[in-house]
Amino acid sequence: MKMRWKEKRKAATAPGNPPPTLLHPENWCEEFNHFIAQCLIKDFEKRPSVTQLLDHPFIKEAHGKVMLLQKQLATVLQDQKHLNPVAKTRHERMHTGRPYRVENAEKYCLEDDLVNLEVLNEDTILHQLQKRYADLLIYTYVGDILIALNPFQNLSIYSPQFSRLYHGVRRASNPPHIFASADAAYQCLVTFSKDQCIVISGESGSGKTESAHLIVQHLTFLGKANNQTLREKILQVNSLVEAFGNASTAINDNSSRFGKYLEMMFTPTGAVMGARISEYLLEKSRVIKQAAGEKNFHIFYYIYAGLYHQEKLSEFRLPEEKPPRYIADGTERVMQDITSKESYRRQFEAIQHCFRIIGFTEKEVQSVYRILAGILNIGNVEFAAISSQHQTDKSEVPNAEALENAAFVLCISPEELQEALTSHCVVTRGETIVRANTVDRAADVRDAMSKALYGRLFSWIVNRINTLLQPDRNICNADQGMNVGILDIFGFENFQRNSFEQLCINIANEQIQYYFNQHVFALEQMEYQNEGINAIPVEYEDNRPLLDMFLQKPLGLLALLDEESRFPQATDQTLVDKFEDNLRCKYFWRPKGVELCFGIQHYAGKVLYDASGVLEKNRDTLPADVVVVLRTSENKLLQQLFTIPLTKTGNLAQTKARISAASRSLPPHFSAGRAKVDTLEVIRHPEETTSMKRQTMASYFRYSLMDLLSKMVVGQPHFVRCIKPNDSREALKFCRERVLVQLRSTGILETVNIRQQGYSHRILFEEFVKRYYYLAFKAHQTPPASKESCVAILEKSRLDRWVLGKTKVFLKYYHVEQLNLLLREVMGRVVVLQAYTKGWLGARRYKRVREKREKGAITIQSAWRRYDAQRKFKKISNRRSESAVYIQAVLKPSTDQGSCPEAEANNGHADSSSTFPAVTEKNRHLQARSSPRECDVFAGHVHKHSLARTDAPSPQTGHAAPDPHGLSPWEGPCKPDSEDRLARKQRTPRRRCQQPKMLSSPEDTMYYNQLNGTLEYQGSKRKPRKLGQIKVLDGEDEYYRSLSPVACVPEEGSTAQHFFFNSSSKGDSFAQH
Ligand SMILES: Nc1ncnc2c1ncn2[C@@H]1O[C@H](COP(=O)(O)OP(=O)(O)OP(=O)(O)O)[C@@H](O)[C@H]1O
Ligand SMILES: [Mg+2]
Repeated sequence: MKMRWKEKRKAATAPGNPPPTLLHPENWCEEFNHFIAQCLIKDFEKRPSVTQLLDHPFIKEAHGKVMLLQKQLATVLQDQKHLNPVAKTRHERMHTGRPYRVENAEKYCLEDDLVNLEVLNEDTILHQLQKRYADLLIYTYVGDILIALNPFQNLSIYSPQFSRLYHGVRRASNPPHIFASADAAYQCLVTFSKDQCIVISGESGSGKTESAHLIVQHLTFLGKANNQTLREKILQVNSLVEAFGNASTAINDNSSRFGKYLEMMFTPTGAVMGARISEYLLEKSRVIKQAAGEKNFHIFYYIYAGLYHQEKLSEFRLPEEKPPRYIADGTERVMQDITSKESYRRQFEAIQHCFRIIGFTEKEVQSVYRILAGILNIGNVEFAAISSQHQTDKSEVPNAEALENAAFVLCISPEELQEALTSHCVVTRGETIVRANTVDRAADVRDAMSKALYGRLFSWIVNRINTLLQPDRNICNADQGMNVGILDIFGFENFQRNSFEQLCINIANEQIQYYFNQHVFALEQMEYQNEGINAIPVEYEDNRPLLDMFLQKPLGLLALLDEESRFPQATDQTLVDKFEDNLRCKYFWRPKGVELCFGIQHYAGKVLYDASGVLEKNRDTLPADVVVVLRTSENKLLQQLFTIPLTKTGNLAQTKARISAASRSLPPHFSAGRAKVDTLEVIRHPEETTSMKRQTMASYFRYSLMDLLSKMVVGQPHFVRCIKPNDSREALKFCRERVLVQLRSTGILETVNIRQQGYSHRILFEEFVKRYYYLAFKAHQTPPASKESCVAILEKSRLDRWVLGKTKVFLKYYHVEQLNLLLREVMGRVVVLQAYTKGWLGARRYKRVREKREKGAITIQSAWRRYDAQRKFKKISNRRSESAVYIQAVLKPSTDQGSCPEAEANNGHADSSSTFPAVTEKNRHLQARSSPRECDVFAGHVHKHSLARTDAPSPQTGHAAPDPHGLSPWEGPCKPDSEDRLARKQRTPRRRCQQPKMLSSPEDTMYYNQLNGTLEYQGSKRKPRKLGQIKVLDGEDEYYRSLSPVACVPEEGSTAQHFFFNSSSKGDSFAQH
């Protein structure tokens, strides 16, 4: 389609211009021309809406032909490209802002997945891959399987931005990527709460380990926990383990020499919480010997360079000029590289950093270095033959220096070490006989010791990492967590000389290929039959017979090897003969004219194996004498390595409890003098005790495979197939033949086929309904796990090309993603709804609580007020009654003295006028004696506060004599000191002489104020009178008087009358009390 959209859009917006059309309308059908014309109508009011356009005949005709049309479109695009190559445009995928700027993006959208290929054969697949590789599109899908071509150059597509891009989006939104595979596994883990397993396979050097790193990187990004340290630790794990387990080979500079299954553990919410590594079948033989052009394990070079730069080589007894035999390659290069290569030095620092980050202690790290240096030193021990009278084939160590160096670094006795290397014990009929070793045997023992040291050290490091990375039980229960396992094993190898190691590696790859076949072809096709699905069977290369040839008992290759290893007289020649006699199948052959050689037709090609040394490698004997010596080391770690038992897979067991239990029961003579040895086993000869003695490499291998598979089958598999585009490790070089071989061996063509036609996901009705019922049913409904429910869900989801079996729903590989996205959408809506509802409920609850609290507050307040009022009332009423009693007590004697019969007859309403003078002296004396306070009252010292405290006697009240100041301590002085003194001066003579006091005195003022206060308290609105004023009684006064039990006082009269008039109100108030 040649549409210049930009120009057309521009033209379309210009008013007055005719509406744009297709470039060559005559090339297109009428419906299409009409449809485009409708779309481009300038006046938006006249332009039909999208819904209307969907009813256009052109669109309607496309219904149900999406795939076909996509393919046609792809062809048209292809043709157009050939016709007019300059008309390339740059596009980005609309919905994502696609990171790669790819030309002809629409086409690549389709070509991202080989399943979309119209013509499916090896040629088209190769063509596609080559074209994409040229565009640096190294990843391609085959349905849900990812093909990864090794770019042999650093690409800028693994940054955090890319991690963000591949986070929970539709797979088709972005170009294929290793992050997308990691994301798919992660999404499945979170959505279905199920373990996942990512299987990375491919030849050596195809990029498995790099892919595994990238997966770990992305999973760590996706599973972001708050625990940053854990994330950092996990990211360091691979580097550390690979420094010990990887080496440079003829094929790959960083070749994995062991199988690694890394499990990352996640919480149910998808936060990473720990990790665990399982290691399988380390190629220990590399420690002692490497093929031409190959190297020892990386760590030896890193350590050497690091110690050299730290000037610590002498501390570890490592020579500066001549490299140790185990890392020497016959050239001067090694030492040069070690001393001058910056990369080694940096790697050493990186390793130290890894150790630190992961949590190894400095002491542990130093012990590790010592063991590594010990291995290098042991390698330098040479043997020479000596002949004695009785024996001619004895061996000795001519140069004691190397032996002493080794013994020193390993913290063992040099004499004991020499003895262990040059002789051995044989137990016959309960007797232990010591026999000398020949030179060859001594050398074998030395190498066996080095291999065992390295193998167990590696195993210990892995165990230690596992301990340090295990989930924190305080944060999450490990049982609730789920794993994503990442399998990265040594790739298929075919060297010029292949030995026992290559045989094991290739059998392991054979097993992984079988696992792939089972999942992709066998299980799927079996289910079609069982469920009555009509699907065209896809032929594939089943490697089961070959695997049986290796693994079956008693006549499989490994079983035969084990059997032969048990015969002391067996040789490599007898072994090959045995193979030839028993392995009678098309996969095994013996090439003519080549001694000790046999060939195997592997799934990935023919490989010729050299049988020399295979028997001995399989026996992997470590003499007991060596174990005994190593157990006596003062290096704690070294002791442990030879104390902890080995598992059936040949690794160190993680049995701390056992070691400590053993060390507790250690006989004293072992702990005296020498460092304590941690096991009981040391007191027995290992040959008598260790059952592992009889274990062979083949049996470790067999168990390792079983263990690995048992871990893998638990998880839902995701496959990444790595492909090496060339053998020369060059970027952008696509060698068709090499790629084709790998495509064939891995069955890519068949895989495309089965993904096109088949149904990669088969889900039980029950499981399907349980997973997806939200898509078609209401949340509270519980639809039955029936066919009908499944159909309802599938139809509601608008999926096509699904099939129903007897018990299962058969889905295409892309359906699951679509369903999951729909589910996520629904869940998203549910979450929003729940959030709103929760918000509303919360607000309502808050309102209720607030109302309740307010009510409560009011109740409490009113109760308190009531209580307070009652208390005050009680106080007032008490005071009143006291006052009344007091007044009555004062008045009573006078009435008694000048008793007025009328007054008595008037029910206590005595005529006060006649009694006033009599009150004066006698009563005051009386009162003064009975109560000093009351005396003060009369002396004019009573005021408001003292009145209020009548019920709480002051400390002074207990004394007969009043306080010289006449004030209780809490009353505080009301006047300045001088004034107070003056007042006392005036007061004292008056009291003594019983003179009636003047109203204008300060005491009177106080008294008066006090009185007013009391009145005020009673609610009187009367204003206080001015001192010394004579007041005419007003209505209110009348009222009080009428209330007073005391008879009214005449308004005019003597000073005493004045006094009493004023005090009548006091009397009133008291009477009121
Ligand atoms: N995605 C990538 N980006 C850049 N370089 C890569 C990538 N994948 C692989 N390589 C290059 O290819 C080399 C070999 O890759 P890798 O070590 O992962 O192979 P392998 O499959 O693990 O091999 P083996 O089976 O020997 O362990 C790497 O050292 C690296 O240089
Ligand atoms: Mg690797």
